[in-house]
Amino acid sequence: MHMLLKNLQTALPNILVHENMPLSSLCTLGVGGEAEFFIAPSSIEQMHIAFAHVMKARVPVYILGGGSNVLFPDGLIKGVVISTQNLNAIEWRTNITADIDAGFKLPLLMKELREHGLGGFEFAAGIPGTLGGAIAGNAGTGGHGVCELVDEIVTVESDGNFKLWKSNEITYSYRKCSLADEKRIILSARMTFRKDAPKDAEVLESYLLRRGSQPHGLRNAGCTFKNPDGNSAGKLLDEAGCKGLRAGDAIVSDVHANFILNMGHASSTDILELMKLCAQRVYDSTGIKLEPEIKILGPCSCV
Ligand code: EPU
Repeated sequence: MHMLLKNLQTALPNILVHENMPLSSLCTLGVGGEAEFFIAPSSIEQMHIAFAHVMKARVPVYILGGGSNVLFPDGLIKGVVISTQNLNAIEWRTNITADIDAGFKLPLLMKELREHGLGGFEFAAGIPGTLGGAIAGNAGTGGHGVCELVDEIVTVESDGNFKLWKSNEITYSYRKCSLADEKRIILSARMTFRKDAPKDAEVLESYLLRRGSQPHGLRNAGCTFKNPDGNSAGKLLDEAGCKGLRAGDAIVSDVHANFILNMGHASSTDILELMKLCAQRVYDSTGIKLEPEIKILGPCSCV
């Protein structure tokens, strides 16, 4: 038996360590191969123990949140996928401040804030995924990002130790957060919201932005590429004639050119091929190199 598997099973007898775990049902694109090992610890302590073992074993490690912005390659992905899906507690510290686990789903957080009559998070309406993933990628809409509301973050580091990061130790910008790193897990965040009731108009605007101008109904991972400085990836892709381009069962949406849809049986290889094709078209016509927003996890040739 693999030494890591044995160590994990001994250290965490109550958690199932999956071998050859299919990943396609764990990401919104519905593609990807199998993880050699997969674990989904259900407490911060378990996560800490698991991560320390994985780091010591020096095998590749991939942290998976809600799977709404990731792509795993096809085939066997060597190493361990650690999911935060079972870390989903929320604890209110004051009437406006809460400690929220990394696996807490953003749509549920929106609901919680509505129940508490708190605002400041309206811009995140309609964003899928978990808080940890949203922080790592500073997810957002309309110039706002989730990291703006963070007071502090608890992580487990590659040496297996916990670390508390104060907001002044964290830097973030458009779709970037300084704590994003595969050798660290974001475990939880303390966030402070606004005391005033959520502004329905802003929630609706954010929601409609996605609903009206973006595709829905078919599997996708949101925007495929980041917006280059002062430009829109969707517009550039549209102008480069990418809408409707296809590779296997992956297709560029007719509604928004920065969305790739899985028409049913797409593979990761199809999606990656389509991403390459799209990036090349934009580069050929404008000289602009698009950078993927979708996080490609695991070994593969980059776009
Ligand atoms: N446009 C086109 N053709 C298209 C798509 C867009 O011409 O196929 C034009 C639009 O008409 C508009 C401009 O491009 O003038 C910008 O488009 P849009 O308003 O749809 O916003 P975006 O920049 O493409 C960003 C985020 C979205 C977020 C929306 C709404 C990125 C890469 N995308 O999209 O986030 O939902 O604003 O706030 O930052 C995501 O990150 O997964 C995502 C979908």
